[in-house]
Amino acid sequence: KDNSTVSITVVGASGDLAKKKIFPALFALYYEDCLPEHFTIFGYARSKMTDAELRNMVSQTLTCRIDKRENCTEKMELFLKRCFYHSGQYDSLDNFAELDKKLKEHEDGRVSNRIFYLSIPPNIFVDAVKCASLSASSANGWTRVIVEKPFGRDSESSAALTKDLKQYLEEDQIFRIDHYLGKELVENLSVLRFSNLIFEPLWSRQYIRSVQLIFSEDFGTEGRGGYFDHYGIIRDIMQNHLLQILALFAMETPVSLDAEDIRNEKVKVLRSMRPLKLEDTVPQGSLTPTFAAAALFIDNARWEGVPFLMKAGKALHDKRTEIRVQFRHVPGNLYKRNFGPDLDDATNELVIRVQPDEAIYLTINNKVPGLGMKLDRSNLNLLYAARYSKEIPDAYERLLLDAIEGERRLFIRSDELDAAWALFTPLLKELEEKNIIPEYYPYGSRSPVGVHYLAARHNVKWGDLDLEQ
Ligand code: BG6
Repeated sequence: KDNSTVSITVVGASGDLAKKKIFPALFALYYEDCLPEHFTIFGYARSKMTDAELRNMVSQTLTCRIDKRENCTEKMELFLKRCFYHSGQYDSLDNFAELDKKLKEHEDGRVSNRIFYLSIPPNIFVDAVKCASLSASSANGWTRVIVEKPFGRDSESSAALTKDLKQYLEEDQIFRIDHYLGKELVENLSVLRFSNLIFEPLWSRQYIRSVQLIFSEDFGTEGRGGYFDHYGIIRDIMQNHLLQILALFAMETPVSLDAEDIRNEKVKVLRSMRPLKLEDTVPQGSLTPTFAAAALFIDNARWEGVPFLMKAGKALHDKRTEIRVQFRHVPGNLYKRNFGPDLDDATNELVIRVQPDEAIYLTINNKVPGLGMKLDRSNLNLLYAARYSKEIPDAYERLLLDAIEGERRLFIRSDELDAAWALFTPLLKELEEKNIIPEYYPYGSRSPVGVHYLAARHNVKWGDLDLEQ
C-alpha cells in the first residue's frame, strides 16, 4: 500500500495558464490513472473563493479526450472532489502556513510530497517561493517548485532570479518548464536521431546545408500586450522554445538517457554557439518586435559553417512550428538536366512538423511515371493522425507527470538557462540601446521581406515558402 501523498498547489489558480493548461492537464493525468493513489490539488490565489467555487471554475475547463468519453463525467466529479482552494497573499508567510495546515490534514500522516506550480507573474516568483519554502514545504518528503518563463529579461536578471530562488531551494527542487520540450515531436527528436541508422550518419555539416526552425502564429498579442511589450518575440519564443529544439537537434550523443547526461550535451552545444549579432537578425514589429529571424552558428566540428535559421512571428498567415533540415546537393548529379530550372530546389529535405498535424516527412526525388525522364519531388510522409488513432497528450501533461515522478530530463537546468541567455543578451541589449526602428508587416501576412534577405545572405531559401508541402 502506498504510504505517500502528493499535493499539487497551483499558485495563481485563477490565472489563464492555470485554467487553460494546468487543471486540464491534471485531470487528463487523473483520467489516465497516472496520478498517485493519494493526491490532493490546491488552488491558491488572492481572491476569496470557496472549494465549491474553485471546483466550478475548474469544471468549466475540463474536457474528455475524443477517444475516451467513457465514464468521463463520473471521473470529472471524482477529480473535482480532490480539488480545494486556499485564499492568500503571495508574500504572506502566515497565509502559506495556513495552507500548510490544510495540506497536513489531507496528508493524514502519510509521507508528504509537495509540488508548487507558480502560475503567477515573475515579479512575485521569489516571494511565493520564499513563503512556500519557509511555511509550507514538506517535513518528511520532497518539495518541488515548477516555474515557467520569463526567467528574467537577460543574463543578469536571469542570474539574479536564479540566485534568489536558490536562497530557498536546491537546484534539484526547481523544475523550469519550457513547454515545447513536452511536445510529442520534440520528444521524438532524439528517438529519430539515435534509434534510426539512416539519420545520424548524415547529421552534420558534411550532408546538411541548413537547418530551419520556424514558428508562426496566426494571432497577435491580444490580451497579453503588457507582458509582450516588455519581452518581445526574441525572448518569448526564440531564446527558449526554438533554442531548446535546436539544442536537442544539434547535441552530440548523450552518454545515456539520464537527465544529467542529456542536459550536459545540451549545455555543451549551447556553449559552442556564437552569440547573436545585429547583422544576423531581422527584428520587425513595433519597437518591441513581434517578428524576428536570425541565423545562428555552432562552432564545433559537427556543425561549423551550417546556418541554423530561426524565424518566429505572431500575427502571420498560419499557425505552425516546424524543423526543416535541408540537405546538400548531390555532387555531380547525373540527373541535372531532368530537373528543369528547379535543380536548386531539388535537395532532400526532412521536415519535422511539431504542430499542427504532427508529421515527419522526407522529400525525395523520383521519376515521374511514364515514358521519358522527368523528375519530381515527393514526400515520404509519416502523418501522426493517419498512423495513430490516439490523441496526442498536451505538453503540460507530460511535464507535470515528469515533475511528479522527479524526471528532470525535460526541464531546464540553471547552466542551460545561463548559456541560452548568453547567446541572446548582447543582441537584445544592442537592439534596445540603438533603438532599432523595425519594419512593419501587415496582420496575417506570410512573412516580412527581410527574412528572405537573411536567408539569401547565407545562400539558402526558406523551406516553408511552398505551402503545399
Ligand atoms: C508561450 C508564449 O510560451 O508559447 C506565447 O509565451 C505563445 O506567446 C505560446 O503563444 C505558444 O505555445 P503553443 O503550445 O500554443 O504553441
